[in-house]
Amino acid sequence: MVGGDLAGGNFYYVADGYNPDYSKGHNVGGISLRELPPKDVPPGFIGSVIIPGGTGPFQWDQTKQLTCAGTWGCHGDRTIADPLQSISGAHHTDDSVIDGSTVGTSYRFLYGIKGKEHKTWEYQATANNHNGYKGDGNYSSMETISYLCGECHGAYHLHQNLGGKTSDVWVRHPVDISFSVVKGGYTGSEYQKYTNYSLDTPIAYINPTGMETTVDVNSIVMCLSCHRAHASNYQSMLRWDYSKVFVGNGAQTGCLTCHADKAK
Ligand code: HEC
Ligand code: HEC
Ligand code: HEC
Repeated sequence: MVGGDLAGGNFYYVADGYNPDYSKGHNVGGISLRELPPKDVPPGFIGSVIIPGGTGPFQWDQTKQLTCAGTWGCHGDRTIADPLQSISGAHHTDDSVIDGSTVGTSYRFLYGIKGKEHKTWEYQATANNHNGYKGDGNYSSMETISYLCGECHGAYHLHQNLGGKTSDVWVRHPVDISFSVVKGGYTGSEYQKYTNYSLDTPIAYINPTGMETTVDVNSIVMCLSCHRAHASNYQSMLRWDYSKVFVGNGAQTGCLTCHADKAK
């Protein structure tokens, strides 16, 4: 986003003391209180999934609030419970190569995840200089940003390690699927009309550079095509106001950035 919130969004929208709306993001301990049931645990949680370095928790402990890092958080080595220990040393790592092999050399210290980091978290990002998100064309890589989300929201990601359902696509929208494998083929499909990379509806790539300007047959849908990672000004942490995205409104924005034919 240009000039506004950074790429991850902004915890401000859920932060206590600032008229928070807890449905707009991740309620991280120290910033917000824990959400009430059913949001006291991750929606779509599946226990004991495979995570980089080990196994995720068997169940989401009823006494645990989401933290920044560690087993109950997103950043760092999630096999280590203590948040600080889980990212220990990472800030001093030479992170010029993001290969996911250590916490320090993982995308934004998200252990095992690859990508290209925009230096200022997309402050003043442009269409040719943005975060480069790693995706996978066919639900099979553990190095993608969508896999990270799936570690806690397993039911929403159709990856064999995670347990998303194959039978019911709309349990949640498919991710880590490239336009090349859409039903009926890419050529002539509505997706073909999404051509210029949009900072409001970003796309993932197999080998992201952060300099992609075009969207094509190999571009990949990811959780962050629709959501921000931390919090946003919209319900469900979405990147845009879902209540204003409707079929036939003429604007190729939000869902209709990709489902372009439905904008007409
Ligand atoms: C370490 C576990 C964990 C990871 C990883 C994780 N989440 Fe969550 N998520 C939670 C928990 C816990 C909640 C429920 C509490 C809350 O909303 O803060 C939640 C809630 C949400 C919500 C609903 C927000 C609301 O209040 O309605 C969305 C949307 C979401 N997550 C998306 C994502 C996306 C996208 C990613 C990857 C960038 C992700 N999550 C990664 C634990 C996680
Ligand atoms: C194509 C857009 C899109 C993509 C991609 C997407 N989501 Fe969502 N997500 C939504 C919308 C829209 C909602 C709110 C409406 C609803 O609940 O269906 C939502 C709701 C959610 C919620 C809140 C559910 C609840 O019970 O309140 C979570 C958690 C979530 N998404 C996580 C994810 C994760 C994790 C991924 C990637 C594996 C993902 N989403 C990919 C559009 C998307
Ligand atoms: C980043 C591009 C992108 C965005 C944004 C996006 N979609 Fe999708 N959508 C896809 C792709 C790709 C598929 C998979 C099509 C396939 O498998 O044939 C899909 C599939 C679907 C399907 C299933 C259609 C079917 O026939 O299986 C529905 C419904 C859908 N999207 C609705 C939405 C809604 C609602 C939103 C906004 C909340 C949204 N999409 C945003 C790319 C996108």
